[in-house]
Amino acid sequence: MTDPRVDTLCREIAGDLGVPVAADEPLARWTTMGVGGPARWAFFPPDTERLLATWRALREGPLPVRVLAGGSNVIVADEGIDAAVIVLGRAGGTIRREGNELVADATVPFPALVRRAAEEGLAGLAFAEGIPGRLGGAVRMNAGTGAGELADVLAEVEVADAAGRVRRHRPGPGDFGYRESFVAREGLLVLRARLALVPADPAEIRAEMEERRARRRATQPRGRSAGCIFRNLPGQPVGAIVDRLGLKGTRIGDAAISTEHGNFIVNLGHARAADVLALVDLVREKVARETGLEPHLEVEIWRDPR
Ligand code: EPU
Repeated sequence: MTDPRVDTLCREIAGDLGVPVAADEPLARWTTMGVGGPARWAFFPPDTERLLATWRALREGPLPVRVLAGGSNVIVADEGIDAAVIVLGRAGGTIRREGNELVADATVPFPALVRRAAEEGLAGLAFAEGIPGRLGGAVRMNAGTGAGELADVLAEVEVADAAGRVRRHRPGPGDFGYRESFVAREGLLVLRARLALVPADPAEIRAEMEERRARRRATQPRGRSAGCIFRNLPGQPVGAIVDRLGLKGTRIGDAAISTEHGNFIVNLGHARAADVLALVDLVREKVARETGLEPHLEVEIWRDPR
C-alpha cells in the first residue's frame, strides 16, 4: 500500500492525539530477538488513555493495526510490515492495590508487577519470575511456566474490541488455554487487568522467586531470544526432543539453536529474521518427523500476507 494519503492520515492521527509517531521504525529495536525490518508507521502512546484513543483512530483507517507490547514473543520478518504498529515499549502505567487484588495497566512491565506483588506480600505470581514483556502481552498469550499461568490469578480483564468498544470481562472456562486466550482469538486490545492474589509472608515469596530465578538461569540462555519458540507437544517438551535429536548449537548465519535449551533460538549478534525463521522451519520439520506431530508456534511471526 503506497497511497500517500495513508501517511498523511497517520500523521494527523498522531498530531490530534498527541502521540509520538515514527515512519519506517525499525522493529528490531523493540523486540527481544532483535531481528526484522521496519513498520510503516509506529505509534508510541505514553499511557492507557492514549493507547485506547490510538487504537480507536487507527482501527477506522485503512492500514492493518498491530500492537507490540514487550516484544518478547515476536519475530518480525526482514521485509518489515506494511502496518500501523502501536508500540508499548515507551509507555508508562500504574499498579494499584485493592484489598488482595492488584489492578494494573496493560502497559506495565510484567516483571514490575511480579516484583510489586512480592513487595505487597501478595502470593500467586512467583511462578512468573523471569517472564519478560508487558502485562497486556502476558494476558494475550496467557504467559506461564511449568509452575502456573497468568489465567490462574486473573480476576478481570478490561479490553477494547476492534470497534473500540470497551468492556470488562471476568474470565470463565474456555477463555484461556495453554499459551492462548480469547484476547488473541477475538482480536482484542488489553487495557487493564485485575489479579486476585493471596496474602503471604514477603520473605517466603521472595525465596520462591529466588529459587525459580536460579532454575531459569541454569536452564535457559541469557542472550537475545524470543523465549520458547514452540508450544510443547502433549507430554513432550519440544526442548527435550530437539536435545535428543542433537540439534542444539545448530547455526544459520548469526542465529543458533541455543546450546542451553533446545526450544530457544538465540541471536548471536547480527542475525537476520531469515536465519531465525530457517531454524524455526528446521526444528518444526525434524520434530514432526520424529514424533509424527506438528509442533505449534508459541511465538508470533509478523510478516505481511503474501
Ligand atoms: N529439556 C531437555 N533439553 C533441553 C531443554 C529441556 O532435556 O534442551 C528437558 C528438561 O530437562 C525437562 C523438560 O525438557 O525435563 C522440560 O524443560 P523445561 O523445564 O525447561 O520446561 P519447558 O517445557 O521447556 C516451559 C515453558 C517455558 C518456561 C519453562 C519453565 C513452554 C513452551 N515453555 O518450558 O516458557 O520458562 O517451562 O517453567 O511451555 C516461554 O514461554 O517462552 C518459555 C520459555
